[in-house]
Amino acid sequence: MSAASAGVDPRLAGRTALVKVPATTANLGPGFDTLGLALSVYDELEVSVRDEPGIVVEVNGVGAGEVPTDETNLVARSIAHTFAHHGIALPGLRLVAHNVIPHGRGMGSSAAAIVSGIMAARGLLEGIVEMTPDDLLARATELEGHPDNVAPALFGGLTIAWVTPDGPRHKRLTVHRGVSLLVAVPQTSTMSTALARSLQPESVPHQDAIFNVSRSALLIAALIQSPELLFAATEDKLHQNYRASAMPETSALITVLREHGFAAVVSGAGPSVLVLCSDPAQRLEAAALIEQHATTPWVSHMLAVDFKGATVNSHPAEAVA
Ligand code: HSE
Repeated sequence: MSAASAGVDPRLAGRTALVKVPATTANLGPGFDTLGLALSVYDELEVSVRDEPGIVVEVNGVGAGEVPTDETNLVARSIAHTFAHHGIALPGLRLVAHNVIPHGRGMGSSAAAIVSGIMAARGLLEGIVEMTPDDLLARATELEGHPDNVAPALFGGLTIAWVTPDGPRHKRLTVHRGVSLLVAVPQTSTMSTALARSLQPESVPHQDAIFNVSRSALLIAALIQSPELLFAATEDKLHQNYRASAMPETSALITVLREHGFAAVVSGAGPSVLVLCSDPAQRLEAAALIEQHATTPWVSHMLAVDFKGATVNSHPAEAVA
């Protein structure tokens, strides 16, 4: 059966899209569900429209043999969600994922999967449907539930994301060039975001809210202008203590790092640790301290801020040999 005879928009026949999406770290200490940074680690995805109906998924690298390879795959669901939103029938698709971002470690793997699907849909629908940055963020937030990982995955850099009655919005900022990132990833433990979120109270003391408002405002200044303020700016009372019992090694490592003056926080919902250093030399010192104190295997990644965010290159049928 050809794509046309299967009821697929004939303009989609033979189309392909190549997508690249960065890892992300969210919260950054006080900026719960609001602040995020794109990291220089990437998942890649190839999507092609095929003549047969249905979705075929091949996963290489991280998640191979573990994540679903049918229409319940998160990337596949994200593509389907975007097509459905725009009222376009989903064609038969072949997905080939090349994954590097670790799963369940607080480095935005689910945001990357969701954004990969949305960007693939955008590429496949180029010239048929126009999607604004707000559209992309809205679709991604509908699937992720909160915008702080999907915003930097889509747009790169440091992002402030907030939710309005008209949908999520973002502001992208450029990080001070002195800021040096280290993400320490535990090799033997993972964390579920749903579990982490279930550990938080419905309401918090007013003084704690004021504490986080002050620190997250300061954190923007520290990240874009005054890295020497990073330590004071990364204090938090809204989420990390409530979740500490579920990731004791993470909590212990952050305590040691902060006792030594490093701006260490839980990366996203954990269990990885993000250290925001004011220069590359401080980052080397943080890596040495982690090596010395970790009681289980941790790998320290010295990463750059990704400035581009997600990219897609699409090829219409006539461009395919
Ligand atoms: N802000 C989110 C959380 C990030 O900490 O629950 C992880 O998805």
